[in-house]
Amino acid sequence: MSRRTWWFVLFSVAGLSALAGVAYGVQPQAQGFKNIQVLQDMTPAQIQMQMAAWNVALGVTCFECHVQGDFADETRPLKAVARNMVRMENALNAGPYFSNSNRKADCYMCHQGTRKISTAP
Ligand code: HEC
Ligand code: HEC
Repeated sequence: MSRRTWWFVLFSVAGLSALAGVAYGVQPQAQGFKNIQVLQDMTPAQIQMQMAAWNVALGVTCFECHVQGDFADETRPLKAVARNMVRMENALNAGPYFSNSNRKADCYMCHQGTRKISTAP
């Protein structure tokens, strides 16, 4: 990632923190987020942390899933895939194994730092 992109990411995150700090605990939709469909239970601050965690879990930048300048935009196909992954993760965690385990399914469990999942050798 270029230095310019890093600065952009840094400022985005800082800006979101400021936004979240103003009204922590208020639902994201009420906070100016426009297209929250699967993370409704999270505060803006939690969504922001979740986004950073996805970067790490998948080894991507924000802009694999987002259009620069408009995080609510829906045109990047990976954004829709990510939503379905959240739905799958929620189903796993509500299911027979994870509902009785201290461990919860998360993106890193399968992705381990890369968007490409390995197949059996
Ligand atoms: C793997 C894909 C993916 C990555 C990487 C990702 N996002 Fe997201 N982002 C999403 C999805 C999916 C949503 C919508 C969540 C929902 O529907 O509840 C979202 C929503 C958002 C929103 C709310 C937009 C709105 O108005 O609805 C912001 C802001 C945001 N992301 C910022 C970021 C930032 C900053 C990064 C990098 C640190 C990032 N995202 C990385 C997939 C991603
Ligand atoms: C149970 C294992 C598992 C979990 C948990 C999981 N994924 Fe995935 N993910 C996969 C598999 C398998 C694929 C490949 C799907 C395919 O090829 O159709 C994939 C593909 C993807 C892709 C598309 C990558 C590409 O290059 O096309 C994205 C984006 C993604 N996952 C995001 C996430 C996010 C975000 C999370 C956590 C909310 C998550 N995944 C959790 C197994 C998982």
